[in-house]
Amino acid sequence: MSNQIQKTIPFEGQRPGTSGLRKKVKVFQQAHYLENFVQSVFDAIGDFSGSTLVVGGDGRFYNREATQIILKMAAANGFAKVLVGQGGILSTPAASCIIRKYKAYGGLILSASHNPAGPDEDFGIKYNISNGGPAPEAVTEAIFSGTETISEYKILDASDISLDDIGTQQLGDMSVEVINPVTDYAELMQSLFDFDAIRTLLSSDFRMAFDAMHAVTGPYAKVVFEDMLGVPADNNINCEAKEDFGGGHPDPNLTYAKELVDIMYGDNAPDFGAASDGDGDRNMILGKHFFVTPSDSLAIMAANATLVPGYADGIAGVARSMPTSAAVDHVAKKLGIDCYETPTGWKFFGNLMDAGKVTLCGEESFGTGSDHVREKDGLWAVLFWLNILAVRKQSVAQIVTEHWAEFGRSYYTRHDYEAVDTGPANAMMDDLRSRYDKLAGANFAGRSIKVCDDFAYTDPVDQSVSTGQGMRILFEDGARIIFRLSGTGTEGATIRIYIESYESDTAKQGMDAQDALRDLIGIATDISHLTQYTGRYKPTVIT
Ligand code: G1P
Ligand code: ZN
Repeated sequence: MSNQIQKTIPFEGQRPGTSGLRKKVKVFQQAHYLENFVQSVFDAIGDFSGSTLVVGGDGRFYNREATQIILKMAAANGFAKVLVGQGGILSTPAASCIIRKYKAYGGLILSASHNPAGPDEDFGIKYNISNGGPAPEAVTEAIFSGTETISEYKILDASDISLDDIGTQQLGDMSVEVINPVTDYAELMQSLFDFDAIRTLLSSDFRMAFDAMHAVTGPYAKVVFEDMLGVPADNNINCEAKEDFGGGHPDPNLTYAKELVDIMYGDNAPDFGAASDGDGDRNMILGKHFFVTPSDSLAIMAANATLVPGYADGIAGVARSMPTSAAVDHVAKKLGIDCYETPTGWKFFGNLMDAGKVTLCGEESFGTGSDHVREKDGLWAVLFWLNILAVRKQSVAQIVTEHWAEFGRSYYTRHDYEAVDTGPANAMMDDLRSRYDKLAGANFAGRSIKVCDDFAYTDPVDQSVSTGQGMRILFEDGARIIFRLSGTGTEGATIRIYIESYESDTAKQGMDAQDALRDLIGIATDISHLTQYTGRYKPTVIT
């Protein structure tokens, strides 16, 4: 019998979404704080007695302590078994893989994604369901209401287990199996990609560089790239996982993955470069002196999917978030498959994949994935590109420019205005919305506006409706300007402006995106009265 300590704790209500609860480490370290959240999860997810739970995280500061607490609570609450990654480590896509493979009831993933780590930085926890994907809103809402009323939690009074020893240990009536965090994931990758072809490519004069940004993909990259594919160890940079991510901000984009970008744009640059984020679900793809936008990357994967063994029979359909460029739409059209446009956030893809409607999906925010798991997957995307490169034997730049020649180029950029005051940001959006009628049909610099609206989505599987998912200005010629307020920013409001135009003329496809989009960028700031509202003249981050 488990020894349960019952306590009454006041809980400061937090509304955790599908990306879970993300707070400063110091907040999580308050007495009973994590415990209350975990108990609220266990209270909200139905009858799991006799089932298995998966636990692991990105290795950031407080990962180990949190893991020990969760294990003792899982034991006291009646789980039969927990599968936990050695050292408390599991990348987010690996956790998704393990939940699916071992038919677990669900999993608790400890991560604050790309946000910095350390005693004064961020920590996070989220619950994934048995399909391996983030809990749907009905579950996160039930968790949230639980956190408002919780008065006690169950925890086993036991000493810590050893998280470093692979094998099974006992915690009360529950068994804890410490597993190698990489093995199952690496096996899944091997089942999807032609490792022999990739190994041959990598043993030629082709060189790659991978940047784990001192976060969770370090140990995965060592096994998959170095041990299995023969990449020399010094081609992998920052692969030593650290509790504080080396003091960095592991977000794989042109701003934060600067070390890799400098290598890829420097003299003697490798042929291929890639990076992943804190918990291993995001990716950035680079060629020699060449950046592949995430929107193009998704489109190119879709167009070349049959070159990859795991997708050789073709793909069922594709999905992209609304602000992601329409590059993949052009591929879907040519392949004669469905293309779904969903609101921002990974959760909308899960239903489509479970229903077999979609095989590949992605977002402009450096997230790409497939139905092999139910999270976006950074290393999977890197391997997908390596597999394409191994088969086509062309450079990244050649593959991308040939793609544009065949399907047209979607020039694309995202401008972020971070830490804007919330009041003016909302007022700007409301003001723009109030002028939709007047804007429709208007002409700007030779482009005429077809529609202005707020994006709404009806899930084709469960018919649930999501409204207010971003303001769209759609032009007759296919160009688009989208305005959205970030749902993940931590300071004030972040205004995101997504700007896109389509170019089918190969002679005009070689421009710098900022130059090609200059008119539309001007239209976006004029139409929104951005400077009047925010006092800003230029974005804080341009992707
Ligand atoms: C951002 C990205 C979005 C992604 C989310 C979680 O959300 O834009 O695509 O799904 O992070 O990784 P946002 O801050 O824009 O709401
Ligand atoms: Zn992430």
